[in-house]
Amino acid sequence: MEEEQEAPPPPPKHIIMLPFMAQGHLIPFLELAIQILHHHPIFTISIVNTPLNINYLRSAIANRPSPPPSQIHLVSLPFHSSDHHLPPNSENTDGLPFNQIIKLFHASTALQPPFSEFISDIIAKQLGTPPVCIISDSFMSWANEVATSFGTVNYTFTTCGAYGTAAYDSIWLNLPHRNLVDGGSHDEFPVPGFPESCRFSISQLHQYLRAADGEDEWSRFFQPQISMSLQSNGWLCNTVEEIEVFGLEVLRNYIKLPVWCIGPLLPTKMLKGNTGLVGPRSGKQPGIPPEKCIEWLDSHPPRSVLYISFGSQNTITETQMMELAKGLEKSKKPFIWVIRPPIGFDLKGEFRPEWLPLGFEDRIGKQGLVVHKWAPQLEILCHVSTGAFLSHCGWNSVLESLSQGVPLIGWPLAAEQGYNAKMLVEEMGVCVVLTSGIHSRIEKEEVRRVIEVVLDGTEDGKGEAMRKKASELRELIRASVEIKKGSSYKAMSDFVSTILFGFK
Ligand SMILES: *[C@@H]1O[C@H](CO)[C@@H](O)[C@H](O)[C@H]1NC(C)=O
Repeated sequence: MEEEQEAPPPPPKHIIMLPFMAQGHLIPFLELAIQILHHHPIFTISIVNTPLNINYLRSAIANRPSPPPSQIHLVSLPFHSSDHHLPPNSENTDGLPFNQIIKLFHASTALQPPFSEFISDIIAKQLGTPPVCIISDSFMSWANEVATSFGTVNYTFTTCGAYGTAAYDSIWLNLPHRNLVDGGSHDEFPVPGFPESCRFSISQLHQYLRAADGEDEWSRFFQPQISMSLQSNGWLCNTVEEIEVFGLEVLRNYIKLPVWCIGPLLPTKMLKGNTGLVGPRSGKQPGIPPEKCIEWLDSHPPRSVLYISFGSQNTITETQMMELAKGLEKSKKPFIWVIRPPIGFDLKGEFRPEWLPLGFEDRIGKQGLVVHKWAPQLEILCHVSTGAFLSHCGWNSVLESLSQGVPLIGWPLAAEQGYNAKMLVEEMGVCVVLTSGIHSRIEKEEVRRVIEVVLDGTEDGKGEAMRKKASELRELIRASVEIKKGSSYKAMSDFVSTILFGFK
């Protein structure tokens, strides 16, 4: 009788993820991995990046209130920033001056050879079975080619919203603002993919995009990467179907690929209406313990406090900082301000008192809380006393704010933030734009006026209307993650079964 052979265990269903090297991309990828495993524990997921970013993810994981599933592996690939004319240990956009960021983008393509080697090692270990798919950041879309070369399936994940992504991609690919007649009286232009009536303006573009001509170093990175991201099997988008109806229509028409809206990739606690400690989301140490921040907020009435933060990698100029401080003081509104050294100084360096009006911190006393570098943003946004968020309108901040029904005051600085702000104003009605960019002049009076519009509802109850809209969005966002019923839950289930069984 023949002896029965024990069948070898089936190779794991391995998903490879490749985020872009920025905090606002790494964290959503980690959340995506966790979500996928919640939907189906069958997968092994490797998140691949440079050594320092992998360390950063490790500390983000260690800081989480509960450990993520053990099927998540972090893999670092060799990378030396000094090979790319970057300062040593620059592996992330955090703290990198804006004029150096493009070097980091170009340097990211140097990961292609070690990434390919990593995939071929996996295939060898899995006795010839390739990973089930590679999910790459829309800025790392050379990975789509790697996927194809190893016979695996490529997907793109955009950590931005649908509207912002569509505008970002179309403007980079088409550079429509170049058709504006120089010195013309209007600065508005149509964008391919968007209806004629939805015009964009030069003020929404950052300086390098304004100057782009298709030959510059920004265009030379973004045009091919975006084109390759359009050659993928489908896109995951960190948004909610019901809150971005228009943006998704534009995006789907423009890229002509399936789009799964699986957002918001936020800690579940934030979506359950809990206040109190949410637990850190990033690997950063806040400049103030969350408990102290909550205590301070507890001492203020509901919806009275303005929260101010320009995100993980931005700051403003000295002059702007001064006017903002004066405007805050004039408004007499309670505020929490996350502050970093102004443009031109080391972002990670010490903060000098002369960057703020003389005696500012003493005078504001109980009115304000100045927090250096990092604040416990989730706890602040979840607190009932927080009434508005003055934000750079980075997509993660936008989702965090809307998930708590907090209206925004926009001050977009880079990337697709100007388009997000435009959408928050025009499509969602939850935002007033204070100013745009680092070259704009702001005045303390204007700061005060805008704060009053949003917090006091001056000017025809605009603030009240914004708050109502923001609350409606909060409910749509929370409904989207409901088990079995919510649109994002269903999209994630559909994506997971597409990985396992292919397109229906
Ligand atoms: C991604 O996969 C699709 C389908 O296999 C393929 O047509 C496409 O060329 C791939 N993308 C790239 C950039 O190789």
